[in-house]
Amino acid sequence: MTENMKVAVIGQGTMGAGITEVFAKAGFEVHAVDNSEAALERGRSIVAKSTGRAVSKGKMSEEDQQAVLDRITYFTDTAQAVSDCGLIIEAVFENLELKQSIFKTVDEAAPADAILATNTSSLAITAIAAAVSSPERVVGVHFFNPAPVQTLVEVIRTVFTDDAIVAKLVELLKGLRKSPVVVNDRAGFIVNCLLVPYIGSAIYLYENGFATREEIDKAMVEQAKYPMGPLALADLIGNDVCLAVLEKMYDETKDRVQAPAPILTRLVMANMMGMKTGRGFYTYEGGKPTEDRGPIRRPLQSRGVEIHDRLVGEYLNNCVKMVQSNYASVDNIDTGMAEGCRMPKPFEVLKELTPKRVLEIVEGIYAETGEPGHRPAHLLRQLAEADDQAAAIDELRAATAEAHSSNPRG
Ligand code: CAA
Repeated sequence: MTENMKVAVIGQGTMGAGITEVFAKAGFEVHAVDNSEAALERGRSIVAKSTGRAVSKGKMSEEDQQAVLDRITYFTDTAQAVSDCGLIIEAVFENLELKQSIFKTVDEAAPADAILATNTSSLAITAIAAAVSSPERVVGVHFFNPAPVQTLVEVIRTVFTDDAIVAKLVELLKGLRKSPVVVNDRAGFIVNCLLVPYIGSAIYLYENGFATREEIDKAMVEQAKYPMGPLALADLIGNDVCLAVLEKMYDETKDRVQAPAPILTRLVMANMMGMKTGRGFYTYEGGKPTEDRGPIRRPLQSRGVEIHDRLVGEYLNNCVKMVQSNYASVDNIDTGMAEGCRMPKPFEVLKELTPKRVLEIVEGIYAETGEPGHRPAHLLRQLAEADDQAAAIDELRAATAEAHSSNPRG
């Protein structure tokens, strides 16, 4: 991989434009692709606004901003754009047929040694790879929103992917000062598998009148110290993206707890995708929420539920289940949530709250709902029963770091 390698980013929506900015800022020549001049214009203005903010804060000079913008060339012809690129990242909306057709074009038009990556958050990378003649060079490269800010990038290998491609990509991402974490292809990967069900649970509590929109968001910001509340975060990510991830997870697990709440599907039907369309759980003007009352008004029902305990308890139980299923190490989950979402490291939070207390919360939720998806993880019970719970978490961290240093593909 040479320093003057060109990078193509196909799709100039929120994520595609953010990824374009990341590479252009790092000095790469970027070919930004979309299917219309209007879509390209939108991408151009996202990058101009984001870098403009850095200039106005004195973090970038106007000359540097211009140099970043000058490194980006805009194309509507995908084959032409990728013909001399060493890395192609597709970031169009979540439609498998569309992505497969783009990958077929790219597979034919790109140089033979180019890496073909997709930023999909909800589709199987394997299904995209299977559509091309050289699936061994197809890989997932999953950035987080806002891409210029969040340092985590999940690198997803399939049963086809060449290890050398993964290693090259990991080195390249480290050079961009990102923190790559390599995982196998499974619904939600690490972060969305933990984050989006948490958002889904918050939506469920909201729709069922457990608390107001503001109360839910405030509880998670003030008590859990998350950078933003789950409903505001759904609006930032896009309700369409949250819905696609939940549907995929539900399809793969058949766990009813993952099923999207009706209000989420209705917001998407109504094109209320969140910040990008100006309305979602909140209504936005100039990128900031206004004082409206949100999509539903329900009398507040008092069910004796503490929002923070409930959402954190479910989320930590899911983190422990992920370790138990041997998908990721404690370290990778901590890094994923801290660097992808700027949330406190979940296993540090577990230590602080204690597995015993979290088990008590989760048992309460399970008793109330009877949903198998809310059953406490065996491993959570083991940690809660340890003589020294903090030491048991440390041992788990060390053991899983060791086991995942040679993580098998699958
Ligand atoms: N583009 C570029 N930069 C942005 C930005 C954007 N859209 N939004 C904010 N920033 C930058 C700001 O310029 C600022 O930079 P400096 O520190 O260099 O000045 C920094 O981010 C902090 O911004 P603000 O001070 O304006 O606001 P904040 O401190 O409240 O942070 C936030 C805003 C970065 C969005 C923060 O609230 C956050 O990290 N929230 C969590 C977001 C999250 O969880 N993202 C992951 C979602 S999951 C996903 O994306 C994957 C998927 O597939 C669904």
